[in-house]
Amino acid sequence: MKREKITLLSLIFIFLISLLSHPDPAIANSLSCLICHGTSEGVIFIDGERFSKSVHGTLDCTSCHLKYIDTPHKTLEKEIDKSILDISLSIRIKSKADPVALSACNQCHPDVFGKVKGSVHGQNIFKKKKSDGAYCTDCHGSAHYISPGKSGQSPVDFGHVMETCGGCHEKESISKDYGFSPKVLERYKESFHGKKYILGHKKVPVCTTCHGSHDVKSSKDPQAMVFGTNRLNLCSSCHPGANNKFTSAITHKPVGRDNPIPYYAEKTLIVLTISVIAGCILHVLLEAYAIIRDYLREKRREE
Ligand code: HEC
Ligand code: HEC
Ligand code: HEC
Ligand code: HEC
Ligand code: HEC
Ligand code: HEC
Ligand code: HEC
Repeated sequence: MKREKITLLSLIFIFLISLLSHPDPAIANSLSCLICHGTSEGVIFIDGERFSKSVHGTLDCTSCHLKYIDTPHKTLEKEIDKSILDISLSIRIKSKADPVALSACNQCHPDVFGKVKGSVHGQNIFKKKKSDGAYCTDCHGSAHYISPGKSGQSPVDFGHVMETCGGCHEKESISKDYGFSPKVLERYKESFHGKKYILGHKKVPVCTTCHGSHDVKSSKDPQAMVFGTNRLNLCSSCHPGANNKFTSAITHKPVGRDNPIPYYAEKTLIVLTISVIAGCILHVLLEAYAIIRDYLREKRREE
């Protein structure tokens, strides 16, 4: 028998057992959904095992899929909290499959929701009514498989967050429209911080150290961590005694005339390295010349 069939049969068995033990069959649990979704193919397939290992593994599917109270798929819009329905209207551009499920995050993470809504990303969605800004699943990955932040597998942990933020920011469609510096990851890797980051240094700043995570603000917003005196505080948290001149050393603009400090630092380094190597070679050549000259003189004298 094929593996899928065995899984299907055992799921049906567990489902029947769970019906017997469930006093109210109208309340669907995860297994009653996974009977179809754990065995189907394509976009509606949900990996039950991976789901159960995620941070939400103990939740029923319907804690987020509030519209899907009954199996399968009976809509009960009236019983859904109005605030959740309101959010779902604003963010439906971010989720074609089930905007109510994406709005349900607010039920259990209201503080985070508040910050995200007020951030430059949230305003892009809620105020400008666009779909470019980042929402929960853009940063955390699929709602079904969110792993704990410290597991080393989360897209928002120290090792991955540069790609998660930078990947979206570097897209031409985004960087052009919003006038961002086009190659923020490359620029970071060239910076003092990026070089240490690649070497595995853990105390260097990443995107979220300088911009925050849920409450990211435009760099022109006085509340932004990189604005005015806030920037001074930010840099001096790791560079005691930083002054305004020092804090302007970081920008994501391409290295060149607009971003001269690393440009000239690198050029100076190259000139220095070349002169040191050239000096060494000259020294060795002169030394060799002296030895040969002395040898020949000695020989001539002997003759
Ligand atoms: C009898 C099989 C079956 C069961 C049980 C079932 N589903 Fe589905 N589900 C489907 C199929 C087939 C589709 C794709 C077609 C459709 O949209 O109806 C689907 C689609 C969905 C979608 C995507 C909707 C969209 O428009 O893309 C969600 C979300 C969903 N199901 C959630 C659930 C939840 C939550 C449960 C448990 C309460 C559940 N389903 C139980 C068969 C099932
Ligand atoms: C933590 C909240 C949460 C839980 C728990 C959850 N889902 Fe979802 N699910 C979502 C969100 C949000 C979407 C919408 C994704 C999108 O549109 O990008 C979604 C989408 C879906 C879809 C549409 C296909 C897709 O992946 O986009 C299906 C099918 C589905 N969920 C089934 C389930 C089943 C079955 C369970 C239980 C085993 C479950 N979900 C548990 C939040 C959740
Ligand atoms: C722009 C990217 C981004 C978006 C959008 C985002 N998050 Fe996060 N989230 C992060 C990062 C990065 C962390 C890691 C911890 C930190 O730096 O605060 C995190 C941590 C968390 C945590 C654990 C720590 C805490 O602060 O409680 C929860 C819960 C969370 N996010 C939920 C959400 C929800 C719910 C949404 C949508 C309303 C969301 N996040 C949107 C990037 C994001
Ligand atoms: C029914 C309540 C509930 C809903 C709805 C819910 N969560 Fe959670 N979430 C939790 C619980 C409980 C935890 C685990 C907290 C812990 O382990 O400290 C959690 C943890 C998290 C974490 C933290 C992971 C970490 O770093 O440890 C993130 C991120 C997160 N949820 C995002 C979301 C997103 C996105 C949605 C909506 C798609 C959502 N949650 C919907 C209850 C919920
Ligand atoms: C060491 C701190 C630091 C780190 C790390 C950092 N930034 Fe910045 N970022 C800044 C500063 C300072 C500015 C303001 C620069 C200016 O005014 O020219 C800025 C400006 C920006 C801007 C707006 C202006 C522009 O040039 O595009 C965006 C977007 C941005 N950062 C995204 C990111 C992303 C995405 C990451 C991670 C890949 C990141 N930043 C990492 C400090 C940092
Ligand atoms: C899904 C794509 C996407 C992801 C992921 C994303 N961003 Fe953004 N970000 C945007 C868009 C689009 C804007 C412009 C919003 C606007 O101005 O309306 C923006 C704006 C910003 C700005 C303000 C730039 C300025 O000065 O105008 C900063 C800073 C920023 N993002 C940092 C981050 C950080 C840090 C992360 C990761 C934790 C991140 N972004 C993840 C799309 C994204
Ligand atoms: C989380 C800590 C942290 C933050 C915040 C931070 N840096 Fe750094 N920075 C480092 C580390 C670590 C190094 C590498 C030091 C070394 O090589 O000894 C470094 C190196 C540098 C260097 C190379 C020269 C030197 O002094 O070592 C410059 C310039 C620099 N950072 C500028 C900035 C600016 C400007 C800001 C604020 C926008 C900033 N940094 C914020 C940790 C940080």
